[in-house]
Amino acid sequence: MPSLTLAEFSLDHFMAHYWQQKPVVIRQGFKAFEDLITPEELAGLACEDTVDSRLVYQKDGKWQAETGPFESYDHLGTTGWSLIVQAVNHWSPAVATLVEPFAFIPKWRLDDVMVVYSRPQGGVGPHIDLYDVFICQGSGRRRWRVGDRGAHRQFAAHAALLHVDPFEAILDVELLPGDILYIPPGFPHDGVTLETALSYSVGFRGKSACDLLSGLADYVIDQEQGSALLSDPGRPVSHHPGQINASDFGLIRAQLQSLLDNDTLVADFAGSFLSKTKCALDLQPLEEPMDAAELLDTLQQQPLVRTGGLRCFYVDATAADGVCYVDGERQAFGAAARAAVTALCDQEQLSHSQLRSGLKNPEFVAALTAWVNAGYWYFLD
Ligand code: SIN
Ligand code: CO
Repeated sequence: MPSLTLAEFSLDHFMAHYWQQKPVVIRQGFKAFEDLITPEELAGLACEDTVDSRLVYQKDGKWQAETGPFESYDHLGTTGWSLIVQAVNHWSPAVATLVEPFAFIPKWRLDDVMVVYSRPQGGVGPHIDLYDVFICQGSGRRRWRVGDRGAHRQFAAHAALLHVDPFEAILDVELLPGDILYIPPGFPHDGVTLETALSYSVGFRGKSACDLLSGLADYVIDQEQGSALLSDPGRPVSHHPGQINASDFGLIRAQLQSLLDNDTLVADFAGSFLSKTKCALDLQPLEEPMDAAELLDTLQQQPLVRTGGLRCFYVDATAADGVCYVDGERQAFGAAARAAVTALCDQEQLSHSQLRSGLKNPEFVAALTAWVNAGYWYFLD
């Protein structure tokens, strides 16, 4: 696994002074960095219809973008194009290891690892992102210009490319293998490839109130909660039939607020909603499913590894009852299994001893066996 080295400041300093605030270059954040995927493997992934990919280039001075899956790359020249593949951590265990050095930010904030292969003069053009990104330079060299936050005009350079007007750079840097550029949301940036490059963008994204409210609405409908109708016995005579008066407005707000004040409901919603993956998982079910005894036996010999991109979390409000949320599903194993549940969510690799408290619980063992058989966790071999 690549290990992160911060020579100029501590992680605490980074979180206090840069995270969500300003861009910074972390020189040689990954010492002696070696690529985690080959260009051929990346090009192969972009031929799969379950994988989200794009090609970006300029033709006769006009920006072009094509979405995958691709059948051939023959129409591209030797320079001036980029292949962008989303969520490569879901498909490549090696690329998934790049998530761990950034685990000082909790995984519910993680979006994915996007990998970009680009030829000299390639890039996606000047743009603004809505997420925090750590752009980790693999092989090759790229020049990055980053401007300040502000009122930048955005326009569609192509139907699929939202660009930004030229901006003054507050950072203008050349990234070499192992260098990391952190860019918070809202800062315009433009990366141009100097020498054929692989870049790995570890992206983090917050949810908007719109995302959360629409998710909460779906959740309460699914769970058949919040269906009690507004009730108003003792209502006084109304003299303004067209008015929603202050007292009625208060009732409506209280009806909505009662859902938000229910900590268990909000915890179960947040855990389920945030643990759902946006992109497909590369689940490889076991050809010969294990039973619980085989699972326990194998776990004595080797660790379990979480499949890349699988999301599982616990929330303080429900963790004491051994509740966790795995790939959008609530799972409850009881208070005695709490330590195992916490380990399941915190650790990428799990040993028998880390899971001990859960392994005494047949329901936990049954769930773990089902997950391993379905490919959510796998044995290293
Ligand atoms: C790129 O690597 O060219 C695109 C990454 C980004 O700017 O977000
Ligand atoms: Co960007």
